[in-house]
Amino acid sequence: MSGWLVTGAGGQVATHVVARLRELDANVTACSRAELDIADAASVRAVLDRVQPDVVVNTAAYTKVDAAENEADAAHRANATGPQVLAEELTGASTRLLHVSTDYVFDGTASAPYDVDDPTGPRTVYGRTKLAGEQAVRAQRPQGSCIVRTAWVCGGPGPNFIDTMLRLEGERERLTVVDDQIGSPTTAADLGAALVELGRAPGDLPGIVHYVNAGQASWCDLAREVFRLAGADPSRVEAIDSASYAFATPRPAWSVLTTRSWTAAGLSAPRPWQQAVADVVRAR
Ligand SMILES: NC(=O)c1ccc[n+]([C@@H]2O[C@H](COP(=O)([O-])OP(=O)(O)OC[C@H]3O[C@@H](n4cnc5c(N)ncnc54)[C@H](OP(=O)(O)O)[C@@H]3O)[C@@H](O)[C@H]2O)c1
Repeated sequence: MSGWLVTGAGGQVATHVVARLRELDANVTACSRAELDIADAASVRAVLDRVQPDVVVNTAAYTKVDAAENEADAAHRANATGPQVLAEELTGASTRLLHVSTDYVFDGTASAPYDVDDPTGPRTVYGRTKLAGEQAVRAQRPQGSCIVRTAWVCGGPGPNFIDTMLRLEGERERLTVVDDQIGSPTTAADLGAALVELGRAPGDLPGIVHYVNAGQASWCDLAREVFRLAGADPSRVEAIDSASYAFATPRPAWSVLTTRSWTAAGLSAPRPWQQAVADVVRAR
């Protein structure tokens, strides 16, 4: 199998891309930020010269949604400049670039699942910088790159919603979780395997696809499912609305993505989020 380069190693999604590639005995080079700063052209050039990858999976990003509001330059550097530099430095015509993006490029006001051609309208610094990254990749490398938008990634490693709920289940008798933000829970493990499937797929890459686990949920639904899977009483999780919770940055009310683009590209249909989350809880 071809050689792979994974950026942002140590991050939630990269960890599972690398794990899946190792299961397949693939030749993979995983670079942390210290080993490869995607916004530094010299660093990118040196790694590309050394590794000569056939597939680059860019998971590197500034992902702190709230902090980004006050650190716009840092968010822009990782989320917009980084993908642009990667796309510019990838001169090999046959090298594939899979670039991971987010539901935050949408405005979150829809009531039907977002498809790839729906108008974007990010409302946060994080979302605007991620959209700029998408646009840079598409402009610089219209062929041989694919934007993969995903949402509500959970399961770790690192802080994530499932582990937070499991911890709080042990610490508190009752907790309140918002019930008016609806999205597509997606485990990092399923996303990692999906990115590998995309990178190995024959034929031309689609320009942009959505990959999330199937179904939709509110954060409250997801919390209750985690409780249920952990053998705890889900009714200990009480629903509240977003107005009652002090989010530093507004969250999209609607983040459901359709994966029509994914299956139309001949890729495996994602499984329901409940099954994917059950695997995470079982492993804890
Ligand atoms: N998590 C979600 O819910 C979610 C939802 C939708 C889309 N996504 C997208 O999925 C992708 C992966 O997210 P994730 O959850 O795996 O994020 P993550 O755990 O925060 O990992 C991102 C990694 O990128 C690294 N990084 C930051 N700036 C970099 C740079 N300039 N060069 C190289 N590496 C850099 C970070 O290193 P440091 O830790 O040292 O900063 C971190 O290891 C991102 O594109 C994100 O936008 C995530």
